[in-house]
Formats: sequence, C-alpha cells, structure tokens
Amino acid sequence: SKGGFEHFMMKEIYDQPQAIRDTLLRRLDNNRMIHLDDIKLTKEDLEAITKMYVVACGTASHAGLVGKYAIEKLAKIPVEVDIASEFRYSDPFIDEHTLLIVVSQSGETADTLAAMKLAKSKGARVLAITNVVGSSVAREAHDVFYTWAGPEIAVASTKAYTAQMIAFYMIALDFAYKKGTVTLERYHELIDRIEALAPLVEKILENKEAIKTIAEDIKDTSSAFYLGRGIDYTTAREAALKLKEISYLYTEAFAAGELKHGPIALIDQGTPVLCVVTQKALEEKMISNIKEVKARGAFVIAVTKEGHSEVGKVADDIIYIPETEDLLMPVLSVIPTQLIAYYVSIARGNDVDKPRNLAKSVTVE
Ligand code: M6R
Repeated sequence: SKGGFEHFMMKEIYDQPQAIRDTLLRRLDNNRMIHLDDIKLTKEDLEAITKMYVVACGTASHAGLVGKYAIEKLAKIPVEVDIASEFRYSDPFIDEHTLLIVVSQSGETADTLAAMKLAKSKGARVLAITNVVGSSVAREAHDVFYTWAGPEIAVASTKAYTAQMIAFYMIALDFAYKKGTVTLERYHELIDRIEALAPLVEKILENKEAIKTIAEDIKDTSSAFYLGRGIDYTTAREAALKLKEISYLYTEAFAAGELKHGPIALIDQGTPVLCVVTQKALEEKMISNIKEVKARGAFVIAVTKEGHSEVGKVADDIIYIPETEDLLMPVLSVIPTQLIAYYVSIARGNDVDKPRNLAKSVTVE
C-alpha cells in the first residue's frame, strides 16, 4: 500500500530513514560491531584481494561509485566501477585475487547477472548487494548483503539507493577493520555518524514545501544540468537520471571541472543548473563554476551544507541540508534531488510511479 501517500515514489522517499536504520542497526551487536552474516570473507581472504570491481546498472551503479570512495578511503583497496552491459562484453582483468561486487535492487537485472557469471568463470569471488531475498543475483553470488529497504514499487529508485550506499559504508568499514586500516575509535565514530543519518534525512524531508517551490521554477524548461565534483558528481549523476526518467526532460550531469572542455556551450539564458556542493576541499572550485555558468545566464539551484553562506551568495536558489562527514554526504544530498524529480514529474502531469517506456526490472538485454 502507499501508506497514505499519493504515489509509491513519495512513500518510498519517506521510507528512507527506516531503510537506513534497518540496514544498519540489525547488523550491530551489543558492542556496536558490524556482523555481515552472509559475507564469509575472512581477514586472510581480504588480504589476498588486490582489486575490486563494482558492477551494476542505472542507480545501482551510482551507489557503486559512492562505494568506490568508501572502500578506497577506508579499506585501501583499489576499486573500479563499471556498468554491467559494458563490463560483460569487455575483457576485464580478473583473477582469483579479484572481488566483484554487484549491486541490484531487484536481483534480476539481466546484464548484472551475466557480468557475475563472467567474473565467476574467471575465478573471481562475487559479493552481491541486493534488496530481494532469494533473487537470481543472490543465488548466483558467493556472499550476499541484503539491503533491508522493503519492497520498492516505483520505477524510480530512491530508498534502494540510500540503502545500497549504507551497505557500501558498512562493507567498507568491516573490511577496513579486518584489514587494520581503521582504528576502533574511527570505526565507532563512523557507525555513530551513519546511524545519525536517519534523523537528518527526516529533517530534509520537513523542508519539502520549499523544495516543491523550486521544482515549480524549473518545470517548464526543456533541459536541466547537474554539476558536482568528487563524490558530489556521483549525486549529480543520480539526480540527473532521476529527473530524466520521470519528467522526460533532457538532463545530464557534468563533472564541474569539465565545463570549459565543452558542456558550458549548452548554457543559455535561464538554463537550470543544479549544483551539488558538499565537499569541503572542493567548495571554492564549485563556487567558481557557479559564477561561470551564471555569467552565461544559468539559473543556479545549489544544494549545500547549512551555514555555507558563500554558496548561498552566488546561487539563485539554495537548498540547505544538514552537515555530516564528507564521505557520508551523498545520503543527504540526494534527498532534495529526489523530491525535485518527483514534483517536476507531477507538475508536468506524468505518471510518476510508472514512467513511459521503462520497466521496474530489466530482465532482458
Ligand atoms: O534492480 P536493479 O537495481 O538491478 O536495477 C538497476 C536499474 O535498472 C535501476 O536502478 C534503474 O536505473 C532505475 N529506474 C533508476 O531509478
């Protein structure tokens, strides 16, 4: 049921705090240590792994990009992210020291399944992050991490994405602890911060009327662009996909540093440009990029941390979100972009839960 909401997508956006809590808390023991019961990788197994791939499609692949940041930063293992339809027809460098992580909400995506089979045939170990117990992806994998987001009905993925990011943070922390690349103190600090994301998401949702007004401002446009740097670029990509699939607007995300290498030619009077600015080390660079697109007539909407008034000064519209560790910001920064996509879709009279031409799970190539 839609739980009192008009559409599944909005219900699922509101399910996110619970999805975060369930995915995390049900795996913590009394000492707040993570137990990944369906992942049998030992300390020795992890030490033998020299390379990881994360392979998935669509939104799940964006969670993989966040996962790359988390695993490389915390567990110090190099990670490559690829989309399943490319990976399966490439000649990936895989051996028995490779761990392949696949991510699939449904667990039935044809290309993702084919990618797993290919990696297995070359001797890789395969870990699946999936939301559906007993799905094909879960059955085909050596190790499984179930996201406990509950059934996701809307075609546009929201709560599965947040739960997938939480899964990656937990896997990265667990691997890091086993490998000795984080201290126990830092481990616990991060667990506390991950748990604290749930009420912060609730806080962002309380601001939904203001976000709706911003959506009204861009509903009649024909295209919209998203900019970010570093891990914010991942949010920009996810946000662009979300708006595209349910509003049918032409959207694209750019790494802000690439603007001058081509994309800035697209900016015209009134072009909406949504900028994600949450990473301390990249804030100044992003402010310069905002000024550059504004000088070409862009209408800039910025998503940034509370108190970052420098960003507020240059943007036309601003959405403030609470602050946490830079690494965890994608869980918060994506929320307003989901709401924008939802409201634009509704304002354009679209079927938000069942957008044209799309299926919830892509079981054919
Ligand atoms: O079930 P999966 O996670 O394997 O699905 C992957 C993509 O098809 C899916 O995320 C798709 O991109 C969504 N419609 C995005 O909202």
